[in-house]
Amino acid sequence: MKTSDFADLKMFITGPTMIRKEVRQAGALPEFGHRDKENDKRCVSIFRNLRKIAGVPEGYEVFLINGSGSTCMEASIRSLVRDDETVLNISVGAFGDLYHNISKNNGKQAEMLRFDNGSAVELCRVREALERVRPAVVTVTHNETSTGVLNNITAVCELARKHGALPLVDGVSIFGGMDLDLPQARPAMYCTATQKCLALPAGFGIGFVAKEALDKAETVPVRGHTSDIIRQVGKARSLQSLTTPNTTLLNQMAVQLDYIVNEEGIENRFARHAKMQAMVENWVRKQDGFELFAQEGYRSPVMTAVRVPEGISFAVLKDVLKERMRERGYLFDPGYGKLNKEMEAAGERPIFRIGHMGDITPDMVEEYLEELGEELGRL
Ligand SMILES: Cc1ncc(COP(=O)(O)O)c(C=O)c1O
Repeated sequence: MKTSDFADLKMFITGPTMIRKEVRQAGALPEFGHRDKENDKRCVSIFRNLRKIAGVPEGYEVFLINGSGSTCMEASIRSLVRDDETVLNISVGAFGDLYHNISKNNGKQAEMLRFDNGSAVELCRVREALERVRPAVVTVTHNETSTGVLNNITAVCELARKHGALPLVDGVSIFGGMDLDLPQARPAMYCTATQKCLALPAGFGIGFVAKEALDKAETVPVRGHTSDIIRQVGKARSLQSLTTPNTTLLNQMAVQLDYIVNEEGIENRFARHAKMQAMVENWVRKQDGFELFAQEGYRSPVMTAVRVPEGISFAVLKDVLKERMRERGYLFDPGYGKLNKEMEAAGERPIFRIGHMGDITPDMVEEYLEELGEELGRL
């Protein structure tokens, strides 16, 4: 094997994302024992900075779970939904569907409220479903990565609570890219991961847990072992993970979260994402026949889904455009495969996505859009 054959592409997909040089270098820092005081040298700041980036209010606890975003979502379902209860999974795309599948695959009684791809959650339909289903728990996706829709989680959480349901939020693809509004939204649990807007490798799910979720978990008899949020939080109180962590990733996390909080600044990071969103959306508006896919007013600051004009198929996006962009040194995102296949089968035009998350800069976006525009012109 020749590792020199591994391409170092500029990643414009929706995760994993480009890793800065300093963070790559931090991957070569020494291993350490996760039950040793060396762990604290990394984790005191990691846990403090995660709270700052989330803007999480007092009373919430944070834990790192080995795995990824789905692992954290699965822990939320196993720990917070009893077998005699129903969970309502609100879905606006593939990742809302994922929360529903996780619920069903864990044997829970689960109902899905599904909105059309590209649409955001509509509150009147949520209200109607809450009255009909009377769920104990509601799940919702903050940033739907398959369609580029950003949901108003504050409104959904408030509505769920009014109907006596615990709100759980999947924030896998948005944490670190915008103000999450958690003090207002107050989800019982917010699940996220390292490999998206934090611009780190994958390896941990990250859970923010309210006290009410821990109280509820006490009433759920079978929560599993690694999927038990009480066990997870118990270990996190001493700044450790329940099971052996990837210490390379912890080294990288310590460096990257310190950079986000103390060098770039959280507000500046959010403003950079908002700027890139505006750049990409303006560029799309200028491309003849191309359209922004997500509903206006609910578009993501960290990624954009673009509907192509008639005549450009998913196969062309995947096999032609993607390969041409690779030759230029980029990893192009030809859209969420299952969604594009379904849309084409229904006679609808496919979408591609532009990830502008993590440590991607406006200059990088400008260069990318220029080159992508040239290639679109050649199709
Ligand atoms: C919104 C959302 N939820 C959940 C997931 C699943 O997360 P993971 O791949 O980290 O398990 C993803 C991954 O892309 C996602 O974008």
